[in-house]
Amino acid sequence: MITLSATLSRVKPSPTIAVSTKARELKEAGRDVIGLGAGEPDFDTPENIREAGKRAIDEGKTRYTAPDGIPELKKAICAKFKRDNGLDYAPSQISVGTGGKQILYNALMATLNPGDEVVIPAPYWVSYPDMVLLAGGEPVFVEAGMDTGYKITADQLDAAITDKTKWFIFNSPSNPTGAGYTWDELKALTDVLLRHPQVLIMTDDMYEHLVFGDYKFCTPAQVEPKLYDRTLTCNGVSKAYAMTGWRIGYAAGPEQIIKAMGKIQSQSTSNPCSISQWAAVEALNGTQDFIPKHNEIFQRRRDLVVSMLNEAEGIECPMPEGAFYVYPSIKGCIGKTAPSGTKITDDEVFATELLEDKGVAVVFGAAFGLSPYFRVSYATSDEALKEACTRIQDFCKSLS
Ligand SMILES: Cc1ncc(COP(=O)(O)O)c(C=O)c1O
Repeated sequence: MITLSATLSRVKPSPTIAVSTKARELKEAGRDVIGLGAGEPDFDTPENIREAGKRAIDEGKTRYTAPDGIPELKKAICAKFKRDNGLDYAPSQISVGTGGKQILYNALMATLNPGDEVVIPAPYWVSYPDMVLLAGGEPVFVEAGMDTGYKITADQLDAAITDKTKWFIFNSPSNPTGAGYTWDELKALTDVLLRHPQVLIMTDDMYEHLVFGDYKFCTPAQVEPKLYDRTLTCNGVSKAYAMTGWRIGYAAGPEQIIKAMGKIQSQSTSNPCSISQWAAVEALNGTQDFIPKHNEIFQRRRDLVVSMLNEAEGIECPMPEGAFYVYPSIKGCIGKTAPSGTKITDDEVFATELLEDKGVAVVFGAAFGLSPYFRVSYATSDEALKEACTRIQDFCKSLS
């Protein structure tokens, strides 16, 4: 019999990937399924970026690179931080990895010791707790529901921090809620962090450019420069540049952490894909014109989905500031019975019944650490969204 690593028993597979897989299987079996589970833009990578990737291949930029990124990309990342966030970083403070996911993972692996606590607002991006567990740490959750716009308060953060707290993970705009902290809301949190000098701040700014209306993105090291020395600002090209498959993410922060992350990478993946790194140089240095164009489309879809979901019986859906997700409450559906005879006891049952009865795949809230909710990714066509929301309305109406 094969014995697996004890560490592995601490984690579960990604539930969002599980939903996409189930939806794909049903589709392959001939069912008419609309997937609202995927966390990626449905746009193609912009042409100038694709061309840069092709050029890299033709010019033979196809060999191993420095483990944590080519100098040209580090330079482009420094320029991006200056331009977009007013933050000064030197190339020695930058690490490039195989997606934002690997960057966060490297940082946790490089810093956590057994017993170290990591404060994570819930609902959270599914991978944070499991990455912390894989790295030997202990996740500590702070819950924020619809009543506070899915944003934690300063008092909640203060109460969650102990002598063992190593990191506070911050994600705004958020996956799964789309909630974006305003400057003042974030300042209230950074004021708390100033009082706890042992805490490092890991900010996941993956949805920085996906913001709507009057909402202005801000990041902790910008809001409170006194936290610069203990903040790791993480970002990537996956979402804003429709480059999920290229796998490039990056971080900026204290040299000591950046060096340690590079060490892990040099012994695991060696370096992120050379071709993708050159494409990312073009993404960051080239035209940014398509970002507002994409956002206009996302905003229209957000408005459509929020208004249609609010018309469904038992569902309440607030309007998020960014990303491409909504996180409606199904409080009004709990306790009802589906046409199959199954009682809707929680959000996982709701999502399973919805998929089986109406062929709409959403991710249940428990996967993100806060029930009773579900997540809809609206990064799909208007037609598919209209049809999916109509089916959700019909499903809710059919509950008795
Ligand atoms: C909040 C958040 N952080 C990080 C990532 C990972 O991004 P990447 O695809 O670059 O690894 C995602 C992807 O879904 C995300 O939603």
